Amino acid sequence: MIQDDVCGHPSRSDSPTARHHVKIRVWTETDLEKVRTIFWETWMATYSNYIPESDLRSFLDTHYSLQQLHEMFINHDVYGFVAEVGDRVEGCMRCTNARGDGRFYVNSLYVLPAYQRAGVGTQLLGEAERQADSCGCSAVWLGVMRKNTIAYEWYRRIGFTFVQEAPFTMGGTTVTHAIGFKPIPGQKTMRVPPPITIAKRTGNAN
Ligand SMILES: CC(C)(COP(=O)(O)OP(=O)(O)OC[C@H]1O[C@@H](n2cnc3c(N)ncnc32)[C@H](O)[C@@H]1OP(=O)(O)O)[C@@H](O)C(=O)NCCC(=O)NCCS
Repeated sequence: MIQDDVCGHPSRSDSPTARHHVKIRVWTETDLEKVRTIFWETWMATYSNYIPESDLRSFLDTHYSLQQLHEMFINHDVYGFVAEVGDRVEGCMRCTNARGDGRFYVNSLYVLPAYQRAGVGTQLLGEAERQADSCGCSAVWLGVMRKNTIAYEWYRRIGFTFVQEAPFTMGGTTVTHAIGFKPIPGQKTMRVPPPITIAKRTGNAN
């Protein structure tokens, strides 16, 4: 297993009672700039020990310009959410109902470093599961960098099974993505793909 050498700020910034005040809501057009900021700040805190800042920056500008985020915003198969405490946006999530392959993906899930470990990510993922369920999908799928051990282990702990690995390129750096799913209770049984498929992926930075 590749050892992780990064990730987040391991401090608990909010008291457990603060979890009750987190509101998950659909993103609005005015959130998009903040969403881009959340991407950047969490990428820098999480990935910059193994992906150079210049690669993160070029990936952000290539895939997540305000215009591209706006295109995602108006796409009916894209589901965007933010996590808000009062008027402070602490995290965001972008999902896609990939009708072609019948999968519901969490493409991006980020909580600002200062607000991690206070239940925000769990609540956002819960929303993804509700959305997948309402789309009739049998599972939530996502990819996570294998070096992002904290997130990888967290997903496993909350019920994800990783079944594929694929190279994932950000700028000039290629890392290994683990791709996995969590079944939606009550939905029909899903077919799981063969264990390892290598395919080049870009565009989803999870
Ligand atoms: C991974 C992430 C989405 C989880 O959201 P979160 O709000 O921090 O997580 P929650 O509070 O809901 O769940 C807490 C659990 O997450 C894990 N975790 C999250 N941040 C952690 C950290 N800095 N150190 C150790 N464990 C951490 C632990 O398993 C923790 O459980 P514990 O507190 O009982 O030990 C968030 O930490 C994040 O945005 N991280 C950086 C970006 C990233 O890795 N995104 C996922 C890409 S696939």
